[in-house]
Amino acid sequence: MCKFKNKIVFITGAGGGIGKATAMTFAKVGANVVLADVKKEFVEPLAQDIQKLGGKALALALDVTEYQSVKNAVDEAVKTFGTLDIAVNNAGVVGIGSIEEIDEQEWDRVLSVNAKGVFICTKVALEVMKPQKSGAIINTASIAGKMGMAHLSHYVASKFAVIGFTNSIAKEVAETGITVNAICPGIIGTGMWRGEGGIADRWKQPGETEAQSWERNKKTLIPQGVDQSAEDIAEAVVFLASAPHITGQAIAVDGGMTM
Ligand SMILES: NC(=O)c1ccc[n+]([C@@H]2O[C@H](COP(=O)([O-])OP(=O)(O)OC[C@H]3O[C@@H](n4cnc5c(N)ncnc54)[C@H](O)[C@@H]3O)[C@@H](O)[C@H]2O)c1
Repeated sequence: MCKFKNKIVFITGAGGGIGKATAMTFAKVGANVVLADVKKEFVEPLAQDIQKLGGKALALALDVTEYQSVKNAVDEAVKTFGTLDIAVNNAGVVGIGSIEEIDEQEWDRVLSVNAKGVFICTKVALEVMKPQKSGAIINTASIAGKMGMAHLSHYVASKFAVIGFTNSIAKEVAETGITVNAICPGIIGTGMWRGEGGIADRWKQPGETEAQSWERNKKTLIPQGVDQSAEDIAEAVVFLASAPHITGQAIAVDGGMTM
């Protein structure tokens, strides 16, 4: 694991549950981490925590749906740390609704962050990685990128797009030595699932609390019967970043949900 010493890792959505765990896991194995999210305030406390542990971290604001915003952030990261070795394109939003409830605006909101955002972040990362002929890109897809799910059709479409895009770019750059993979988290109790407006809240049955809905969904959807932690996902991301001959894969960490 000391192979990450002085490696530069750029993580989007680093203020969220999985992003934070990924940043901390990379920092613990010696990497310098760039923490990017829509607002700098979302990532500054984490940068301070990593610095207190003796690590190097840079907090940045960016919007993954805008090329120039991502380019400016990556330029600043390269200016600070010298290069970019690993890009974890993790920022994402969820949307829930039937086909009647999803309007064009809602479709565009979800596809814009989840699919276009991954396209833009991969494009900008490759502008740095291709000339140096090395790098690893890990795009965050989902179990929703491997199977259909009722009332999540636009989210599912965005995550299928992430996997198709990942496979295609992995082939396109295979000879450069750069690896491009997708990680497919299962069910993790981050802001996406828990709290007001989260999936557990939206999937409540009549008379059920949000917490009861969370417990029921975990038990009925996941063969192992338990949710995955953000750290489970982070460890798989770190593994993918360290595997030079794994490329074009979409690895599920999902307690068997997609088996
Ligand atoms: N939580 C789960 O169960 C689960 C399951 C499968 C996949 N995922 C995926 O994992 C990734 C991380 O999700 P999470 O569970 O940590 O959710 P989260 O809501 O805790 O974090 C998502 C982060 O992305 C950021 N973000 C949103 N739009 C952005 C934009 N335009 N530019 C930059 N940053 C933006 C948010 O501010 C937030 O900090 C997402 O891609 C999500 O789809 C999560």
